Amino acid sequence: MSEPVSADLLGKLGAYALRYVKPGQTVGLGTGRAASAFIRALGQRGIKVQGVPTSRASAELARAVGIELVALDGKGRVDVDIDGADEVDPRLNLVKGYGGAMVREKIVACAARKVVILVGAEKRVARLGQRRRLPVEVVPFAAHYAMRRMRELGLKPAVRVGADGGEFLSDNGNLVVDCGMGVIDGPARLERELRAIPGVVGSGLFIGIAGVVLVANPDGSITTLARRRAVPHK
Ligand code: A5P
Repeated sequence: MSEPVSADLLGKLGAYALRYVKPGQTVGLGTGRAASAFIRALGQRGIKVQGVPTSRASAELARAVGIELVALDGKGRVDVDIDGADEVDPRLNLVKGYGGAMVREKIVACAARKVVILVGAEKRVARLGQRRRLPVEVVPFAAHYAMRRMRELGLKPAVRVGADGGEFLSDNGNLVVDCGMGVIDGPARLERELRAIPGVVGSGLFIGIAGVVLVANPDGSITTLARRRAVPHK
């Protein structure tokens, strides 16, 4: 299955995720289509929360729908984080970052007591890497060195190009290197290897972070997947 989920179904998914949010909570606001559907639903329902945005785009949308925003550095702890993903495996490990926001997304997710991920059924994979791309954020100064080290890991790194034809820069002012690859044999090991490269700020691999994944199915139903055993990630 490869068709992206329709805007209507994403809207339903975003509204469904509201059951994980209580008034007065601090809520992580993810980035991308699915997370935006949740942000809109939250604004429409008028539940009073403090939102911690994971990107400038999410902050802008949240402000537009009337959600109060707080910075993570003023809080340090988030009650629940709602975000999207690009791949979800059966253990609820994820690939994220096709929108380039994975570093802030991972920080907010790891600060959260509960992480809820919203995806269309086309994002479910038997093994991570099936969609053949892993985004990695890299400090520009380190780009060539880090990419050489990535090639040594068997990856095919390419600096992401933005819509204007120039280098895409993350909200942190860094490059995003999209690593071409096949199915990942050991995602946790690859995450460790990437993090060990000086200049790598973070990768789109989210291992043991998601607690719940809500899947929008083509027939309009929603499937709830929950991690059996909580894996500490704080
Ligand atoms: C942003 O960098 C990403 O991690 C998104 O959360 C992810 O790409 C999912 O986005 P969509 O909901 O737009 O597919």
